[in-house]
Amino acid sequence: MENSEFRALLEKKKDQLNEILERYLPAEEGTQKTVIEAMNYSVRAGGKRLRPMLMWETFLLCGGREEDRMFVEPFLAAVEMIHTYSLVHDDLPAMDNDEYRRGRKTTWAVYGETMGILAGDGLLNYAFETAMRTFDFCGCTGEPVTSLYSSREYLDRAARALSVLARKAGICGMIGGQTADIEAEGQSEDITEAQLMFIHEHKTAALIQAAMTVGAILAGAGQEQIEALEKCAYNIGIAFQIQDDILDVVGDSTELGKPVGSDEQNGKQTYVTLKGLEQARADVETLSDEAVRILDGVSHGHSFLKQLVLELIHRTK
Ligand code: IPE
Ligand code: IPE
Ligand code: MG
Ligand code: MG
Ligand code: MG
Repeated sequence: MENSEFRALLEKKKDQLNEILERYLPAEEGTQKTVIEAMNYSVRAGGKRLRPMLMWETFLLCGGREEDRMFVEPFLAAVEMIHTYSLVHDDLPAMDNDEYRRGRKTTWAVYGETMGILAGDGLLNYAFETAMRTFDFCGCTGEPVTSLYSSREYLDRAARALSVLARKAGICGMIGGQTADIEAEGQSEDITEAQLMFIHEHKTAALIQAAMTVGAILAGAGQEQIEALEKCAYNIGIAFQIQDDILDVVGDSTELGKPVGSDEQNGKQTYVTLKGLEQARADVETLSDEAVRILDGVSHGHSFLKQLVLELIHRTK
């Protein structure tokens, strides 16, 4: 695909995801209106929508059908809500203490620290309330939308997907990684490669693994395919965080929509401090090539997903 064609398709797909997300956001009403506004503020600020995009494209890669979109939509919205909550909390004064995100003031900087904490909590919980809506289509809470979704097979897929999402977001996934990241901050000894890989794998790759394996599970992929995609997502996730560390040094704050130099300011040892810029860049490329090789093994079609992974190597935001 020509680069201009790819860019246009990427924008179109992002718009579609934004439209889905918008439909699943909670109404800003009731006594608790403030926290809902703060939740929606952070989601509506934008972002690349990479995780739901990877989920949907993996669903298609594994043979999922366009017309089954409504079965997947609650999970697309849920993974972005979890990711956004992780950013809202990551920016808090007690964590990275950042005031700029997705081209706007951070949630806590606008709504105050307490409401920032609650907005993150709200998004995390609402993500699961949202993912559970897939069961509405399975006839668990009323009439099934189609007889297909009410089959035992679809119930099993939705339940397995929910379990993966929960685990990868939690202490064995993203929260575990954020814990190790914060504990490593300002440590006097040099960070070890094993320590840094634990952080990258858990704080970043885990949610990307959740995105891709949930897409595969909902499409009815076999165990072997799911495991291959989990490995592929590991590579994409590590490469993504290395590039994030690179951009924190050499990126442009306006383009990124978040501050540069945040890691240094927080005394964080990153992939760049450990290996240097040049090696970091080379590793992003190697990991991404390996991810594409795995994708090729799963299915030869689906050029958009492969191009997306390769485009991420040179991302500037
Ligand atoms: C930022 O994620 C946090 C990391 C895991 C590196 P993204 O770079 O995907 O942020 P948005 O969603 O586009 O704002
Ligand atoms: C955070 O990593 C990853 C999350 C789980 C939110 P960073 O702290 O490097 O992410 P940015 O650079 O603030 O987006
Ligand atoms: Mg952080
Ligand atoms: Mg941060
Ligand atoms: Mg960063």
